[in-house]
Amino acid sequence: MAAAAAAALSWKCKFENPSFSALSSPHLLSINSSRRRVIIMSMDSKPTVLVAEKLGEAGLNLLKNHANVDCSYNLTPEELNTKISLCDALIVRSGTKVSREVFESSAGRLKVVGRAGVGIDNVDLAAATEHGCLVVNAPTANTVAAAEHGIALLTAMARNVAQSDASVKAGKWERNKYVGVSLVGKTLAVMGFGKVGSEVARRAKGLGMHVIAHDPYAPADRAHAAGVDLVSFDEAISTADFISLHMPLTPTTNKILND
Ligand SMILES: NC(=O)c1ccc[n+]([C@@H]2O[C@H](COP(=O)([O-])OP(=O)(O)OC[C@H]3O[C@@H](n4cnc5c(N)ncnc54)[C@H](O)[C@@H]3O)[C@@H](O)[C@H]2O)c1
Repeated sequence: MAAAAAAALSWKCKFENPSFSALSSPHLLSINSSRRRVIIMSMDSKPTVLVAEKLGEAGLNLLKNHANVDCSYNLTPEELNTKISLCDALIVRSGTKVSREVFESSAGRLKVVGRAGVGIDNVDLAAATEHGCLVVNAPTANTVAAAEHGIALLTAMARNVAQSDASVKAGKWERNKYVGVSLVGKTLAVMGFGKVGSEVARRAKGLGMHVIAHDPYAPADRAHAAGVDLVSFDEAISTADFISLHMPLTPTTNKILND
């Protein structure tokens, strides 16, 4: 009986909401005919999670143990707005704008937005709060990757890696022009001594650099424990051989060095 009802209603549901077909079955459907709104509940009472951007296979497998997972990438804003009313949770990276319209379209069903990564600029937090939706991120997810990338840029800059690569690929051999400078004994100023900045500092010390940091909010004892001197902005800029920026983009930090 339930199966027959579901089959009959699924046609109506597909008709009213084209994104239905992407959801895994079985689902128990009910229709509020006065408002012509379709409510879909999972018969196994698992929540439905929409994964709107590519995630690692291991993460998806974890999710699948607890939820019906709908991986739909490259949705247009209209497609996302349509789909979201069928979902209890949404997972995005930085490429999907979770706008006010998304929360309005969810009509209260969306309970949590997960940002797989650090920044949450692409999620309308005010709208999420107004709609009673939790927003969570993974603040340490990319810390080491970002720090390693910072060190990669630092060493590449010191030794003119990109320029010499281009030169060799152009058929030249300009070894004297691109010798660069040594990092050992040089002073690195880490601007923003948070998670990424402190990991950069640790690695730079391993390269034999002298590390100073500017961060008006960082506790001095944490810096001292890492062997790093906290200094003023002016001292950092005037003393450093290299400067690495790791503070968030705010009106205060925007264009802090250049216009
Ligand atoms: N692209 C990526 O993959 C990636 C990865 C990780 C972090 N990030 C970005 O890097 C930045 C730092 O990340 P985090 O995880 O280290 O954050 P965090 O919050 O741990 O550290 C930021 C630090 O900046 C400091 N700060 C704030 N205003 C400052 C100012 N005016 N001058 C100096 N310091 C100031 C804070 O006190 C804090 O210690 C964030 O904007 C984050 O979004 C990017």
